[in-house]
Amino acid sequence: MRIRPRRLRTTETLRLMVRETRLSVDDFVYPAFVVPGKGVRESIPSMPGCFRFSIDSLVAEAKEIKGLGIPAILLFGIPETKDEIGTEAFSPDGIVQRAVKAIKAHVDNLLVITDVCLCEYTSHGHCGVVRDGKVINDLTRELLAKIAVSHAGAGADIVAPSDMMDGRVAAIRDALDSSGFQDTAIMSYSAKYASAFYGPFREAAESAPQFGDRKSYQMDPANAREALKEVRLDVDEGADIVMVKPALAYMDIIRLVRDATDVPVAAYNVSGEYAMVKAAAQNGWIDEERIVLEVLTSIKRAGADIILTYHAKDAARWLASR
Ligand code: PBG
Repeated sequence: MRIRPRRLRTTETLRLMVRETRLSVDDFVYPAFVVPGKGVRESIPSMPGCFRFSIDSLVAEAKEIKGLGIPAILLFGIPETKDEIGTEAFSPDGIVQRAVKAIKAHVDNLLVITDVCLCEYTSHGHCGVVRDGKVINDLTRELLAKIAVSHAGAGADIVAPSDMMDGRVAAIRDALDSSGFQDTAIMSYSAKYASAFYGPFREAAESAPQFGDRKSYQMDPANAREALKEVRLDVDEGADIVMVKPALAYMDIIRLVRDATDVPVAAYNVSGEYAMVKAAAQNGWIDEERIVLEVLTSIKRAGADIILTYHAKDAARWLASR
């Protein structure tokens, strides 16, 4: 036989030479939850290995993340008090704003990305302002813009709106620019699906909707073309990076988006995806290291330039030891 594909699989050195996708610690963003208090490092039952940190503990965690070579952290805040419109989300002294300042004061060269949304801050748990049982788009946009400006004011490098309101990227870009934050980037959760894979996160962030669901704003898992529409709108409105979320059940969407746009594409390997791997690993049913590296490599192969993952710290260690 003249052509034998197995020839190039003979040795590890050869396989390494022809490898098409190389996973790197540079690809990772580590998501973290920040809570009020001091010295808090509370484990999250459905996300083994993940914790809720008070600001002081988060700074130590951020140093560890930086030490592992992970370039960025994504912050989610759980506030002291919740109300109808999520006031603490845009307070200059809010939990995330203080966390950003603390990390920026104590950790050099770690990119700080902030989640911009209302669901952790509203008493009803929806990602926007609710009137007569409905999430009101345009009013929510204004609050999101205020949140983004307050995060930028605290020193966030990138703001990441995850609410899925229409037109919010434009509102955020305009508000950032008119407040002097031209260099604060926007990573938009552009194609974010109404997914059951967010279950563990909602427990961790106390952000489950108290009535109804998120289907009137997050996308229908059955739709692919619509993801391209969302991405096009966000890029036109000024998104610097677009995101597909979740990742694993949406690899086709990652590839479509990668091929359709020239901005960096991020993929969020979400809490439910993490929990499934962890649960199976704890049962001894799978080889965690191999599964995690295979999953993350596949997300990258599908077209993601940036991978947000709770596995980032473990994966960084495993990659360093190879
Ligand atoms: C908040 C938000 C969610 C996630 C990120 N930002 C949950 C949701 O939309 O209900 C999910 C992250 C994960 O599951 O890891 N809007």
